[in-house]
Amino acid sequence: MKTNPMNRRSFLGRSITATAALAAAPLLKTTLYAQSARPGFPVRFPPDWNGSPLVAAPAGIEVWPGVSTPLLAINGSVPAPTIRVRRGQRFHAHVRNQLSENLVLHWHGIISPASMDGNPRDAVAPGHSYEVDFPIRQPAGTYWYHAHTDGLTAKQAYLGLAGFFIVEDPAERRLRLPGGDHDVPLLFQDKRTHGETNLAYEPEEMDAMTGFLGDAVFVNNTPQPWLSVDRGLYRLRLLNGSNARVFRVGFPDERPYLLIANDAGLLPAPVEVTTIMLAPGQRAEILVDFSSLKIGDSLTLMSHPFEGGGHGGGMTTAGMDGEMEMPPQGAEMELLTFHVDREAREHSTIPQRLAHFHPYNPADVRTTRQFVITVDGMMHLINGALFDINRNDFTVPFGELEVWEYINNSDEFHPMHPHGALMQVLERHGMDMLPPEDTGWKDTVLLAPGETVRVLVRFDDYQGDYVHHCHNLEHEDSGMMQNFRVVSHRNPHRH
Ligand code: C2O
Ligand code: CU
Ligand code: CU
Repeated sequence: MKTNPMNRRSFLGRSITATAALAAAPLLKTTLYAQSARPGFPVRFPPDWNGSPLVAAPAGIEVWPGVSTPLLAINGSVPAPTIRVRRGQRFHAHVRNQLSENLVLHWHGIISPASMDGNPRDAVAPGHSYEVDFPIRQPAGTYWYHAHTDGLTAKQAYLGLAGFFIVEDPAERRLRLPGGDHDVPLLFQDKRTHGETNLAYEPEEMDAMTGFLGDAVFVNNTPQPWLSVDRGLYRLRLLNGSNARVFRVGFPDERPYLLIANDAGLLPAPVEVTTIMLAPGQRAEILVDFSSLKIGDSLTLMSHPFEGGGHGGGMTTAGMDGEMEMPPQGAEMELLTFHVDREAREHSTIPQRLAHFHPYNPADVRTTRQFVITVDGMMHLINGALFDINRNDFTVPFGELEVWEYINNSDEFHPMHPHGALMQVLERHGMDMLPPEDTGWKDTVLLAPGETVRVLVRFDDYQGDYVHHCHNLEHEDSGMMQNFRVVSHRNPHRH
């Protein structure tokens, strides 16, 4: 796949010019933005959730200095407030819908009772609210939450209804990984800006096929983001919250860094990597050591180009000032620039061992279920069907280990995500070894075009109705989703 540096450069050039013009306005002297001569903006961070109701409402957010951008916020914040819960505690929240359309929130990767999981069926009308209350039993990790409203997930998540849901536990604390301001949650989302200060969600016909790809990656809703760091060790919690964009995360010189956690918690031990694939919905925690850089240096985390961009290539959309090419799936993109500004206050050490991991035994598998992905016009089908909110597509016996075999007979990437259980990747189409980003506990597994992937999954927490879908949110909203039901053979009335 060819990337198109010319278009990208002209986009950046334009947006920097716009920023410089705005910076001349006296109003901005009072804002955070005006204090730096650096191009771009320091990454912003949402507040921690304080237990008050999660109120989703339209809000004008100052994404660019001096401009109020209409978005959807939770408690006035985009990204949504960061929820932190300790393992063993209950998560208890009121969700209030003050939008002008239906809403339900889903706790992605958090195993919750079916009735509180954010099934699109459970969306509430404007002005209504609901309550969730359930125990957090799973390992410490970087999870997230986002809107999951039938047919509106892509739009609502894109416009801001998404945030971190971080689970902590004492075992993890004992490892003494970098903490405080050295433990950094970073939500990556590509946005379609056309170089303008505007964030409308206006998909075109083609976007049902490729997903809504943007021309610039924001971090925590910050355009052209940078982070000031010291010469120490950082724990970066990467969340790909893009609607459709897959990242291949690394540094320009492919210098190694350490992968310590995937979707659902720590790996057994840190793994040295140079690039990892990070698909929409997925998380990766990495340790990056800035001690080899000097004060004044900067380093840019980027998405390296990769093959298999499907039909996204060469797409043009009309911007305010004419036609502009959207970087296709697999194009090189800048993610985040680190500026090394200070000596480190302290030096954390890197633990050799992180967490216990008990792999499932494939000999225990009782059922193999196949999911074949095909294309029909602009839509992607799972096993020949589009989502029907009122149809149950399959029934899974409670507590039994299964293989879910995904066969991708399409030219697009599909990050597949079942609710209600975590997974372990078993094999990826004839690869001898799994890539590091497939190891440990996963809740979203990436299928490249033409690929077959097998995962192990066991639903042994709750019975009830869950959904299984592609986390390309345009695919999901256009019908790439299924309902399934977890039922116990032994005691059908257990809840
Ligand atoms: Cu993050 Cu059903 O989704
Ligand atoms: Cu989920
Ligand atoms: Cu898909």
